This record gives sequence, C-alpha cells and structure tokens, in this order.
Amino acid sequence: MSRFGKTLMASAISLAMASCASARADTPQPINASGNAPAVAADTAVPIEKATPAWAHNDPKMNAFIDNLIAQMTLQEKIGQLTLLTSDWESTGPTMRDSYKQDIAAGRVGAIFNAYTAKYTRELQQAAVEGTRLKIPLLFGYDVIHGHRTIFPISLGEAASWDMAAVEKSARVSAEEASAEGIHWTFSPMVDVSRDPRWGRISEGAGEDVYLGSKVAVARVHGYQGTDLAATDTVLATTKHYAAYGAAQAGRDYNTVDISERTLRDVYLPPFKATVDAGVATIMTSFNEYDGIPASGSKYLLTDVLRDQWGFDGFVVTDYTSINEMVPHGYSKDLAQAGEQAINAGVDMDMQGAVFMENLEKSVKEGRVSQATVDRAVRRVLEMKYRLGLFDDPYRYSNEAREKATLYKPEFLEAARDVARKSMVLLKNENNALPLTASAKSIALIGPLGDSKTDMIGSWSAAGDRQTRPITVLQGLKERAPKGTTVAYAKGASYEFADAGKTDGFAEALALASKSDVIIAAMGEKWDMTGEAASRTSLDLPGNQQALLEQLVATGKPVILLLMSGRPNTVGWADQHVAAILEAWYPGTMAGKAVADVLFGDYNPSGKLPMTFPRTVGQVPLYYDQKNTGRPIELGEPGAKYVSRYLNTPNTPLYRFGYGLSYTSFSYSPVTLSAPSMAANGAITASATITNTGKRAGEEVVQLYVRDLVGSVTRPVQELKGFEKIMLKPGESRNVSFTLRPADLAFTRADMSHGWEPGEFQLWIAPSSGAKASTPVTFTVTE
Ligand code: BGC
Repeated sequence: MSRFGKTLMASAISLAMASCASARADTPQPINASGNAPAVAADTAVPIEKATPAWAHNDPKMNAFIDNLIAQMTLQEKIGQLTLLTSDWESTGPTMRDSYKQDIAAGRVGAIFNAYTAKYTRELQQAAVEGTRLKIPLLFGYDVIHGHRTIFPISLGEAASWDMAAVEKSARVSAEEASAEGIHWTFSPMVDVSRDPRWGRISEGAGEDVYLGSKVAVARVHGYQGTDLAATDTVLATTKHYAAYGAAQAGRDYNTVDISERTLRDVYLPPFKATVDAGVATIMTSFNEYDGIPASGSKYLLTDVLRDQWGFDGFVVTDYTSINEMVPHGYSKDLAQAGEQAINAGVDMDMQGAVFMENLEKSVKEGRVSQATVDRAVRRVLEMKYRLGLFDDPYRYSNEAREKATLYKPEFLEAARDVARKSMVLLKNENNALPLTASAKSIALIGPLGDSKTDMIGSWSAAGDRQTRPITVLQGLKERAPKGTTVAYAKGASYEFADAGKTDGFAEALALASKSDVIIAAMGEKWDMTGEAASRTSLDLPGNQQALLEQLVATGKPVILLLMSGRPNTVGWADQHVAAILEAWYPGTMAGKAVADVLFGDYNPSGKLPMTFPRTVGQVPLYYDQKNTGRPIELGEPGAKYVSRYLNTPNTPLYRFGYGLSYTSFSYSPVTLSAPSMAANGAITASATITNTGKRAGEEVVQLYVRDLVGSVTRPVQELKGFEKIMLKPGESRNVSFTLRPADLAFTRADMSHGWEPGEFQLWIAPSSGAKASTPVTFTVTE
C-alpha cells in the first residue's frame, strides 16, 4: 500500500504565457489601425523575459567548479545525476528498483525522494559521499504540499483565503520543517488550473482562475525558496504539472488533454510563467499529452516555451515514471526511445522510471543523444546542488538537534490554525444562524467527519500524522463551547460509496438531534476521494449522508452543514433547506480549533470560493470567465428555446467563483475611474469605497473584473484582474484602488501573438464574480 492507500500494479507502467500573460507593461505589442494585431510570427511577438532569480546570476566560481567536476565524470556518473529514485518508503506508484541503496553507493543515482528525517537522510548521504568516486552529494526531494509535519489546509482551501501572506506563511513553515528533516526540494506548488471538479487533483491546486492561481503560485514559491537557496531553512520549489494536466478529459485522472494552443497559453500556462519569473528552481512535467505528444516528450513545452521563450534556467524533472508511460501512450516504441525523446525534448531528470539509468548510455554511444545534451542536463542539476551549499557540506540539512527544535513548534501550529480559519467559506447563513449564540445550549454534532482525525489533513499530506495529532471537530467544539453548553456526537451516516442506502446509524443520530438546540452536520468526502487518482462522476455527498441530512432537517431543528471536502460538491438541496453552510475543506492538523473559531464567531469568516460550485455535475465544466456565445441565454425570454441553455437546469452555478459571506455585511460605492481612456504607455486607476455596514469587524476580498467587449478573437464575459483583502471595523469605510495598464489586458490574439488590443472595456469592482455590485464603467484603450 502506498501512503495514499492505493496500490498500483507494476504492469500499469511498461507549452508564452498567455504567452506571457504578464507581458510586460513596457513592451506592449503593436496593433494596426483596424484594431487587430499585425500578422507576425508568434515567436517574434512573444517577448523573451529571461528569468533572473536571485540565484541565477552568473557565478564564475560555481561555473569553474562545475566545469571541473563535469570534466572528471564518466558518462555513467553523469546519468546517475539525472536519475531520481524513491526510497522504499511509500510512494504513488511502483517501486522500480528495490536496490536504491546499492545504486547510491555505485553513483547510479543523484537524487532520492520519499526519504526524510535528519538521521535517514544523513545515512543515505553518507553512502553517496563516502561511497562514490566523486563524492557528489544526493538531493532529497519530497511532496511537501500543504505542510510537512504541521499540516495546513489543503491547497484549494488555502487559495480560498485569497490571502497571499497566509499562503506564503504556510509554504514558509513547510520549508522550515521539511529542511530540518533533511529535505532540499519540495514537489510544490501544483499550479494546474482546472475547471472540472470531477478531477480529484483540483484539491491540490488553486482552483479555476488564471489570475488568482498565478498569485497563489508565486506566494508559494517565495515561501519555500525565500531569498536565499543556500539558507538551510529554504528548499527548492517545483512548479507542476507542466502542462495542462487540469484539462484531463471528463475529469478522469491521467486522461487525454485536447485543448487549443490559445487556451493553453491564456489559461493553463500563466501560473507556470509566473513562477518562472519568480525564480522557481525546478519544473515537473505532467502525465498527460498535449496536442498528441506526452508532456515529458514535448520539445514545444520543455524547450520552445519554457527555455527559449521564458528563459527558465533551473532543471526539469519528470513526473513519476512518465517517461516509461510514453510507451503505453503510443508515442515511443520502447523505453530506450522514450528516454531519447524525453532528454532531447528538454527533460533533465527522470523520476523513478530508471529509463535514463538503463538506456541512456547506449543512446549516447550510438549517437541518438548528444554528449552536450547530457552535459547540459547534468550542469543544471549540479548547479542546484551547488546553490544549496551541498558541495560545502552535504549534511547541512540533516541536523537532528535542529529537527527536534523545529517540528510542530507552537507558532507553526498557531499559523496552521490561522490559515485554516482564513480558508473557510461561509456559503449560506440564513437569519444569522451562525455564529452560534449562547441560546444554543445543546449542540448535536452529527456526521462521519465530526470526530475523524484521519480526514482532517486531507490528501497529499505525506509526512502528516493522520492518527494522533489532528484535532477533531468534536474536540475543538467541546474545548471552546461556553460553560453550560453541551456538545454531543453521533456519527449517524457514512461517506463510503458502498454505504449508500443503509440507515444503520440514523436512529441514534435522530435521537440526539431531537433533544438538541442546534445540529451541526459534519459531512462531505473521505480524505482520499480527492487528490491523485480520485476522480468522481458525481459531486453529491457520498454514502448515505444526504439521506440523513434530509431527516435531520425534517426534525425542524436548525441545521448547519459543515462541509469538508477537496472539491466543489453539489449541495443544492442543502442550500434550499439548511440554515447555514460552511465550506471548511480539510483544515489540517488544527482542524477542530479552526472550525470552532469560526462557528463560535471568534473569527469572522473571510474566505471566497476559488472555484465555481455547480448545481449539478452535468453543468461541468462551469467557470466564471466563460464566453458569451452567439446565443446567450439573456437574449431570450425566460424559457426561450433557441438560446444556449439547458432544458432542466439554470445556466447559473449554485455558488459563484469569488463568492463567500461574512458575519458582517459590506456595501460598495460606484466605481470611479482616473480617466476615461488610456494609451499604449498609460495606466488607469479604478476605485471604489467599501463600507462595513454590519455590526462586526470583518475582512472582505474586494475583486476587480474586466470585460473586453470586442477582440480579434472572442473574449470572456469577465476576467479577474485584481483583488485586495481588507479588514474593516463596523461602520468603517476604505477606498480600494486598482491600477491597470494595457499589458494587463493582454491575451493570445488572432495571429497567436501575445498582447493587448485597443477598444472598449467594461470594469467593475465587486464582492464576487458576476455580482456587479456597482454599475460597470466603460473605458477605452487607444493605440
Ligand atoms: C504525482 C506528483 C508527485 C509525484 C511524487 C506523482 O504520482 O503526480 O504530483 O510529486 O508522484 O510523489
């Protein structure tokens, strides 16, 4: 069993940005008089923005050191540096080589993952440094995704905070704990935009939006890498999975991706580009194909876009055995050819497939891979080892005293609790059912997630303690409940698919409910129903939870649905019938405390959805920045036939992207613009005054949306272009301003060049997508 509770049979294994969505303000692209971009080749139109992270300055000392080292290396030793193997700890796929320790001693492997603790990494490092001819230290990688030991909310939850300082803090704490356990390198951030909640891996990313996703991605890279890779409390970050993995057809994991190059550039690539600009050290390929070519063999993605257009100068690692998988993809006739295609396309390091290890020497000797290609990849890997300071002291991250002093520091746990409550989204709150008041003397906590430790830390919490550390909701509520208030628990229902139709626990739960003042239904998904290889065709509450929820509502007592899951669920019935809904995701080690903070009102919820919640799975993919179509539903009378709509379901979602309530309320003034138009090198500032009109202090995520009315290609009905999270006391007002430049309005134009186009735009400042709190204002961009 792997740490994700699944086994994978060994037989299963046999792309700027918006081309530069951040096209720079100072390099606007030329436009002709008709408003269309002139026909220029994409390559020349895409500005090359060389990444210049702090560590990437030309370092003559490092270069001399690495030149000297490479000159001494045999081809086999070089290939070793391009090989990453798992230790025999649990992993997400087949362990291809049980003999990794012998491989280390023989210099056949340069990097190890799934091994940590100061002691164990020291032991393995010693084998590499003392056992091999050139004494090249190992690099230790690991999936440190939303915390290492102290687990923070799942990544989608963190994105729901819209609080970049909180996101960065989580990554910072992760890096401190992981590096204290000998880890040099995390396989995070996962920046795959996804519009499909059927896909389990949406829980690992930042949701459906390009802009929010890019900000979150950069915050994570900053948190992990800090400003100095040589500091012993920073780790190399990995942006993954490159690219378009989130567009897997039908939401089925590992499935085919077939999207246009324009969509690739405008939707899926920008977060990758943003992290390259932020200096991310490594990029991980994805399992899927793009335009018929598996990502690990895509020269277009790995060289043309990543290196030549973006100037990335870290190294590229594959995903788990994804070179091997080029054979079943039907792209390579055998592993030898797969390895050649991968390295020639731009892969530097082979994760777990042992393809380079077993085939590359022959490929080089027979001339299908050049020595220079191998040397370039080796150099990129050695540079990172050098930057981490491993050639000075290979054991500098494996320090048991530091490890002991670092893990689970009280301040880390407090940070995890804080980020957890910031991530929660209040979806409904009829008649101020929340926060709980003193009149709720007896609280019935019901549901499979009410007293579960295992589920609280979600998936991809690899080194997280699932059994003892997590604070359950029951514990949290009991500890916080005011004197004289009782909290009693009955599981009542099950989230297991197989339990649908059963009613075993219902009687006990209903008996408890009937003698209580308020019911908290802690329902949702089991922790491993999202994450890798966890796709679903239904987004409903699994098992028999919905049936129990309906019976709880039938008691007439107020029911609060505490929803815990890693994806948007279809909770339309609940939205109609329960008093309040709080989306708590999987909140992490401090789950119960953070839930209690919100339910009792010690913290006023401030999260907003990073993903649209559909009414039914049949609406998927449903996302806020859709196109208008030629027959938008608004054109017809209600119920009109020949418009773009469903016969049986409204087009609108249940809850919009960017939506989330507070225990207070906010009003938005009309928007004012600094000028009615801006020129090529100009800027425009939009402002609105936000007022806390309620009785509690609270935070509001103020969002800026823009619509480009006419383009050389059709444009979305709205795009997020800015946000700011502000804290307001009751009655307090604040003016929030956003400055836009033409480059912020850039996209992939008809001729595939990247840039903006002159014309008319609408803009509004609002509490969520689609909610035009104030009348949109119009501005123009002139040449
Ligand atoms: C996942 C990656 C992960 C890798 C190493 C793969 O199955 O797709 O996200 O980093 O395993 O554990």
